[in-house]
Formats: sequence, C-alpha cells, structure tokens
Amino acid sequence: MESFLIKGGVPLHGEVTISGSKNAALPIMAATLLTDEPCVIRGVPDLSDTRFMAQILQSLGAETKFDNGTLTVRAIKIHGYANYELVRKMRGSICIAGPLLARLRKARISLPGGCIIGARPINLHLKGFEVLGAKIKIEGGYVDATAKKLVGSTMFLGGRAGSTVLGTANVMMAATLADGVTVIESAACEPEVVDLAHFLNAMGADISGAGSPTITISGVEKLHGAEHEVIPDRIETATFMIAAAATNGEVTIKNARADHLRAVIDKLNEAGVSIQQHGGNLIVRRGKKLCAADVTTLPYSGFPTDVQAQMMSLLALAPGISIITERIFESRFMHVSELARLGAEIEIEGPSAIVKGGRPLSGAPVMASDLRASAALVIAGLAAKGATQVNRIYHLDRGYEKMDAKLRKLGARIQRVEEK
Ligand code: EPZ
Repeated sequence: MESFLIKGGVPLHGEVTISGSKNAALPIMAATLLTDEPCVIRGVPDLSDTRFMAQILQSLGAETKFDNGTLTVRAIKIHGYANYELVRKMRGSICIAGPLLARLRKARISLPGGCIIGARPINLHLKGFEVLGAKIKIEGGYVDATAKKLVGSTMFLGGRAGSTVLGTANVMMAATLADGVTVIESAACEPEVVDLAHFLNAMGADISGAGSPTITISGVEKLHGAEHEVIPDRIETATFMIAAAATNGEVTIKNARADHLRAVIDKLNEAGVSIQQHGGNLIVRRGKKLCAADVTTLPYSGFPTDVQAQMMSLLALAPGISIITERIFESRFMHVSELARLGAEIEIEGPSAIVKGGRPLSGAPVMASDLRASAALVIAGLAAKGATQVNRIYHLDRGYEKMDAKLRKLGARIQRVEEK
C-alpha cells in the first residue's frame, strides 16, 4: 500500500490544470448503456473509480477503450446483472440501474452496502423506479428491478437530507425511454446532474429543467450515440484553492468553473482568502490574514459536503472559533482525530465540529479514511512544520488524478512511498 510523505511549510506557487469531474463522468459512463451505438466521452479523469466503472460496463457486455482521457464505449449486446464483487468496490456504480431498467426493462444489482461517511441508503432511487412502474424485489443482498414497461409520472424525490444526486441521475436516465412525461420534484441541482442531462440530450433524449429542483423528461423511442466533454472537477478545484491558501502561496488554477463554486468562493473570501477570476482561471492567494468562519454543508448550490474536510484543515489554521456543521452525511468527521494528531484543536458536538483555530500544525503519521478526508490530511500536511506521512492514499487515488505530481509542480515536497 502506498503513502504520501510530505515535508510541509512550503508555500505553493505556479499553475495547476483541473481534470474532468469524477462525479460527472461516472453517471455519464453509465448512460452509455442506454444505446447500442458508440459514445465518445472526453475529459474522463484517469482514476481508480473511473477504471472501476469501465470494468463494470465491460462486465455487462460493453466494449470500452480508454485513451488519454478519451473514453469510447459501445454497448451493443448487454445483460442486466452486476455482482457484489464489482459494486461493493464503488457505490457510484448504483447509477447503472436506471439505464439497464430503461433499455432492458430489468436490472439485478448488488446493494452497495454501508459507507464510512454514512448509511447512504438507495430508497429514493427505488422509489423513483417504482413510480415509473417498475417492480422492486430485494433479496440476498440484491435489488431486482423489472418492468413490462416504464410509464412517465410525477414524483417527489426529496429525502432526509434534501435531494439525492445519484438518485436524480438514475431516475432521469430511466425516464428517458419511458412512455410519456416524467416530472422529478425536489431534484438535485448539482452541475454534475446538468452535465449528465446535456449528454442525454445529445443522445436524443428530451430533458428540460436540469439544474433546477424540477426536471421534466419526455420519453423517447430510442437513443443514439453521442460525443461529450465532461465538465471540470469543482471539488478538485476547491481542494487546490484551499491548499494554496493553507500554505500561504499563490496559485493559478486553470480549467476552473467559478460559476460552479459560488458557495465555496464566498466562504473562502469570508475566511480571508483572495480569489481573482480571469476567464477560466482562478488566482488564489491568502489575504492579509486568515480568519474564522462558520460552514454548513447543504445540497447544491449550498456549501458542498465534499469540501467540508478540506475547509476544516484551513480553518484549523485561522485564529478564532469556526463551527462546521455537516448536514448531508451522518458520520463525515473521520478526519477530525487525524487532524488532531497534527495539532489541530477540534471538538465534535453532534452534527458540528468546533474548530479552535490558529495553533501551528506539526507533521505526524496520519491515516486516510475516505476520499475527501485524505485530501484534508494532505492539505494539513503541506501547511504543517516537519514531515507528515499520509497512509492509505488509495482513498485519494479514487478521486484525484495525479495529485502528487500536480502538487510537486507547485513546489510541494511530496513523495509517493511504499507504506512500511
Ligand atoms: C453524490 O453521492 C457524490 N458521489 C458524493 O461524492 C457527494 O458527497 C454526494 O452526492 C452529495 O453531494 C457521486 O456523485 C459519485 P446523495 P450520492 O444521494 O448521490 C441520502 C465524493 O467524495 N439519501 O445526494 O450517493 C444520503 O444518505 C462523493 O466524491 C437517502 O436517504 O449522494 C445522504 O445523506 C462522496 N436515500 C443524502 O441523501 C437515497 O435513496 C445525499 O446523498 C439516496 C440518498
């Protein structure tokens, strides 16, 4: 297993280019199952998660070719069975259910199981399929969804924490080939849902309202092949913005979509970070001084839960009390005890973490627990005095393309080493 060895205290300087979005690419890759014609997806990041999804598409019978960020998929003859061994590796694979149900009128998929950041049930996905007329049977750890035909209908897809991103994506994909019109109320508004709708419309679907809480899908007979460029990864962008500020450096972030990051930019400004936008570039540097700020994670366009951990690393450096409240996932504070090993002062009170910021951090060996927690530990290690070893970076490789190489280009002293 690999780790990152980081010698901290170096302000990051220079340019970094953002990769395509993991969370847009995964459902778009699943959507290629909706047609037997070739689909070409550009800007697919080379990550263990996108490679997993390609394996899952192959296991269903599709041909895939990945070349330098361009993925070509042809799903001529496919079946609807995805086994536990594959699905358990990546929860996001649940979004093949909608396309399989739409195209084959059946899907047998292993239930994704628990996740370290929360229970993450799929009841809303299944509710949406049932409203479209599917029969759902859960047995032996598998979901069996079957339908003589899918019929468009109106549904409310809001849940405990508001909208569901992959639930909206799954139902939207299932409805593309249904008879009649489907209206999804309380739909997720994330840019990744909008990007998926753009791809589906390029395949001949008839979707309107993506990006708003009400999405309308008029079913069509058949979908055809299409080409698409995936949007830049807004979570990777936010991660590099915070790394620049935490190390008191100055970084130009290229291929960034500021319009996808309003809540993050607003909160960073409040914490004393200066952000200038020049076309598709963002220039990020720390202002006079960092200051405390309160953060609450919310569905888009609120502050993203996928940036909560990284923001905690920054606020641990900002003098004063910051309160970070996690409203999306029940147990997404695994990074708190690891940040404490670097000297951060953080207490958890129910859904909130109270950060007493301003104490300098010092390097130590720490353990990554999930994708975004590992990014937070890398940022803290870059800001800390001395050496930090971040273990189990396989978590990070799931969602960040060549992070260590990109950081080294910005002057970071970071190495990928075999874990002892
Ligand atoms: C997507 O997960 C992202 N993953 C997550 O990013 C992200 O954290 C999450 O959206 C929220 O923004 C991908 O796109 C692959 P949800 P998803 O359904 O769709 C509850 C990362 O770090 N819920 O919007 O699985 C659920 O438990 C990952 O890149 C139900 O109750 O998240 C959660 O509390 C981590 N029933 C809330 O809704 C359901 O049927 C939001 O989850 C579905 C969800």
